[in-house]
Amino acid sequence: MAMIRLRLRGVLLALALLLAATAVVPVLLLGEVAEEDDGGVAPAPPFNSSRVKAVSWQPRIFVYSGFLSDAECDHLVKLAKKKIQRSMVADNDSGKSVMSEVRTSSGMFLNKRQDLVVRRIEERIAAWTFLPEENAENIQILRYEHGQKYEPHFDYFHDKVNQARGGHRYATVLMYISTVHKGGETVFPNAKGWESQHKDDTFSECAQKGLAVKPVKGDAVLFFSLHADGVPDPRSLHGSCPVIQGEKWSAPKWIHVRSYENPQAMDEDAVEGCTDRSEHCAQWAAAGECGKNPVYMVGAEGSVGQCRKSCRVCGS
Ligand SMILES: *[C@@H]1O[C@H](CO)[C@@H](O)[C@H](O)[C@H]1NC(C)=O
Ligand SMILES: *[C@@H]1O[C@H](CO)[C@@H](O)[C@H](O)[C@H]1NC(C)=O
Repeated sequence: MAMIRLRLRGVLLALALLLAATAVVPVLLLGEVAEEDDGGVAPAPPFNSSRVKAVSWQPRIFVYSGFLSDAECDHLVKLAKKKIQRSMVADNDSGKSVMSEVRTSSGMFLNKRQDLVVRRIEERIAAWTFLPEENAENIQILRYEHGQKYEPHFDYFHDKVNQARGGHRYATVLMYISTVHKGGETVFPNAKGWESQHKDDTFSECAQKGLAVKPVKGDAVLFFSLHADGVPDPRSLHGSCPVIQGEKWSAPKWIHVRSYENPQAMDEDAVEGCTDRSEHCAQWAAAGECGKNPVYMVGAEGSVGQCRKSCRVCGS
């Protein structure tokens, strides 16, 4: 009896040690994340749906007031300015200083999850749009100085090559990280019913030609370049009006229909078409092999299946 109790105690002790050992790992990992410094940059308040306004349904356009905190905006501008300076130095070294000046005046890309502040913003974008972070490109930061503009254009692509990584651009979150006192509006000339938007004389002349959103520091616009069924929406045409007074800093985030981060998940249709790699595919598919042997037949992350066409996982 004493022997059994002793053995039981031994087993319990071993269990306790095992639990302690496995518990240490997550604690350490959590500690590491918590230790990353946000430099005292206060995040925006948690998601608040009453701060979001649907300003158009054709195309779908939403404005979130106060999506970013003031401190987050300033942080993004600071990061952008740093990179601009860095690329100037690098370009001097390679003898291409003129090129760099053109590039620095237009914009730069942040790294994904570059720091805690950027990571928080990327998580917030995913939560607002219901679209996974991995489908998104890196945040870009643009600076428009006096008179600079972007003519109306589409964010979706017309060529197949650009769609190979992640497919079409589905949605855009355009964050304003400075307030422009005059001009610089985002204008949607094809938005349905834009004529009925009330505009006072604080809007620029360019903004009178479509549905216009004023750049206000911390606000963000979300619009969709594709219909819900994935077909490009020509009503999503948009541009940036010339800046008349002030300086415009904006940060677009483009989100694709598929993963942009994992090249394995690239659109196989665009790369090599929707094909079978074996003459037996139709026969195997009919025998139920697509379900029984999915990795070989359909493929998995990093490997293309042999019978994608017959298993009907591509094409239409
Ligand atoms: C959400 O935003 C509205 C409008 O700005 C504000 O009145 C309300 O207090 C906010 N709610 C919370 C929980 O912060
Ligand atoms: C690079 O070139 C620019 C413009 O020609 C100049 O202003 C800058 O000082 C140069 N930087 C370095 C590190 O040489």
